[in-house]
Amino acid sequence: MSDLRNLIEQLVLQTLQELRPGFPEIRPLVEVSQVKNTSNNYGKRVPLVAANWKMNQLSASARAFVLELQKLDRKNVQTVICAPHILLPVISAVRKEADLLLGAQNFYPETAGAFTGEHSLDMLADAGIQTVIIGHSERRNLFGEQDQLLARKLAHAMAHDFLPIFCIGENLAERKDGSTFRVLHNQLITGLSEIKAPFPDPEKIVLAYEPIWAIGTGVNATAEQAEEVVAFVRERLSEKFSYAYAEKVRVLYGGSVNEKNAASLAAKPNIDGFLVGNASLKVSTFMSIIEQTAACKRRV
Ligand code: 13P
Repeated sequence: MSDLRNLIEQLVLQTLQELRPGFPEIRPLVEVSQVKNTSNNYGKRVPLVAANWKMNQLSASARAFVLELQKLDRKNVQTVICAPHILLPVISAVRKEADLLLGAQNFYPETAGAFTGEHSLDMLADAGIQTVIIGHSERRNLFGEQDQLLARKLAHAMAHDFLPIFCIGENLAERKDGSTFRVLHNQLITGLSEIKAPFPDPEKIVLAYEPIWAIGTGVNATAEQAEEVVAFVRERLSEKFSYAYAEKVRVLYGGSVNEKNAASLAAKPNIDGFLVGNASLKVSTFMSIIEQTAACKRRV
């Protein structure tokens, strides 16, 4: 019965969106407050832990990392390694398990052409890559990537059957002046704006809340702060798509995650895993975060 209800809800919302693109004022058919309770159905979402190596590692260390990681039983946690482009073929060559996903940290949303310095998704697929990070604050702030480009990248990645990890996050000034939720709402809604009905499977999009003030600072968001935002993100997803859809989307936390704070963050029902920077450079630390995530999610 609830499946039928979910189906009807999705069809009605998709029809409304086709008639009135960007229908922000139309409320979902399910009360938003109910979305918070979806966390009790946790078992439906497979936890995901992704390493974002940023501009780190060389071929020998990357190869050794992946060989070591594959000794760990990771069947309860989907694991992703997002490496610099030049290392992707190196780690692809030593990957033995299809369920270890490899990700790129950037691409350009065109098929081919005069885009000096860029890589297309076809090139990444050719190198054995399945995942891409989009909207990371370092791409937004250091490389000037704007919301419109990020929206195109997200839709392009989904259309090409890549698993995108779409990042949003506020800076310290925004957190302090109380505009966190407005900023995140804008980033999220603009980012999703190029995704049109029929919507792709909810399992094929991953969101990551990465507060800029927590990235590389050693000051992580508390589990309560992160959970509050991730629940907010799920509510917005419910408005854009549907309650049933939002319930299935994985939402990660990133920002100074390490082996000491992973368990308390993973214990929060809406947080489905992590996007890990510094602590993903050492394989033993990264494996500890994966193991702790698996253990917490078995209990949640
Ligand atoms: P840190 O884990 O180093 O804070 O980086 C987080 C991040 O930016 C992952 O994408």
